[in-house]
Amino acid sequence: MYEIDELQNQAQAVMDPTAFDYFVGGAGEEITVTENVTAWASIRLRPHVLRDVSHVSTATTLFGLDLRSPVLVPPLGYMRLAHDRGEVAMAEGAAAAGAVMCVSTLATMSLEEVAAAEPQFPRWFQIYVHKDRDLTRDLVERARDAGYQALVFTVDLPVLPTRKRDVRNQFDLPEGMELANLGIGRHGGAGSALEAYAGSSLDPALTPADIEWLHEISGLPVVVKGILRGDDVDMAVRAGAAGVIVSNHGGRQLDTVVPTAFALPEIVAAVDGRVPVLVDGGLRNGTDIVKALAMGAAAVLVGRPLLWALAVEGPAGVTGLLEQLREEIARSMALCGATALADLDESLVRR
Ligand SMILES: Cc1cc2nc3c(=O)[nH]c(=O)nc-3n(C[C@H](O)[C@H](O)[C@H](O)COP(=O)(O)O)c2cc1C
Repeated sequence: MYEIDELQNQAQAVMDPTAFDYFVGGAGEEITVTENVTAWASIRLRPHVLRDVSHVSTATTLFGLDLRSPVLVPPLGYMRLAHDRGEVAMAEGAAAAGAVMCVSTLATMSLEEVAAAEPQFPRWFQIYVHKDRDLTRDLVERARDAGYQALVFTVDLPVLPTRKRDVRNQFDLPEGMELANLGIGRHGGAGSALEAYAGSSLDPALTPADIEWLHEISGLPVVVKGILRGDDVDMAVRAGAAGVIVSNHGGRQLDTVVPTAFALPEIVAAVDGRVPVLVDGGLRNGTDIVKALAMGAAAVLVGRPLLWALAVEGPAGVTGLLEQLREEIARSMALCGATALADLDESLVRR
């Protein structure tokens, strides 16, 4: 059995301290990093009893894909800091558990290498829109050509906030490692290399029209990631979003924003069934995930725990943790009197 806090300690023991700080940390005082976790824990369940739960299924369908479990791997940059084969190792672990993986623009293995490693397996590509629109277009065309089935458009990073650990540590790529989709190597300057890259390269002038633009140039469904408000989600859906991810970037962008567990109901209400709503941030066990699904999420993404599993046990750890989460979801469902994800509804939670 994986115990997430223990897994994190084990990861810390095997990782370079600067890399660990980059993975574990967040913006500002890291209040949101903590509150994302405690918010799920604070929600109370109202389980049904006397329901036959001898057969429980965690299966679901998302954008036409049949999935064994509603847990996806979110976009996470710089995975080679956790494992030699980085994103390829994560993809192997995810594929063995039947989970969709979102490959980051800031991956340390190229999107083509990840696709070649698990050609059969559904994958999405996360796009950061660059000021250089030709570069952005090139990235999404490469993703489409490599068989990625959706774009995850991250919208909560118009600028990078101060991530104190990374500034203090002068976070940078080690020699011999690069942001493989971009061909960017070690920065070598003072402060955080990620902050320097984001400031010089990422487009702070994004608008809803960019959702349609990404769809037009790729032909792929665009899932908008990083929304926390009902009015914004309505705008995104009207602008063509095929799905949305309620996210505060794991507490790594604006500190003290609303925890995703508390933002989710407003978003679900505003979307009103038009597109699937996914959520991430602080989800750490099957019970948290059952709450998210009961509150209207179609699926969830689990970030840091999978990085710890990758660092400690490689692909087998990723598979093992995803399988454990699936079993925990099934057990929590049974204890709620639910046999299918469709049985999970708002009446099961008390906020
Ligand atoms: C080390 C790390 C790197 C991340 N890199 C990206 C990224 O490249 N693109 C992105 O959209 N989100 C990125 N995220 C945010 C995740 O996709 C996700 O929103 C977050 O990890 C969920 O919170 P959790 O880690 O508490 O589960 C990153 C998160 C972490 C921890």
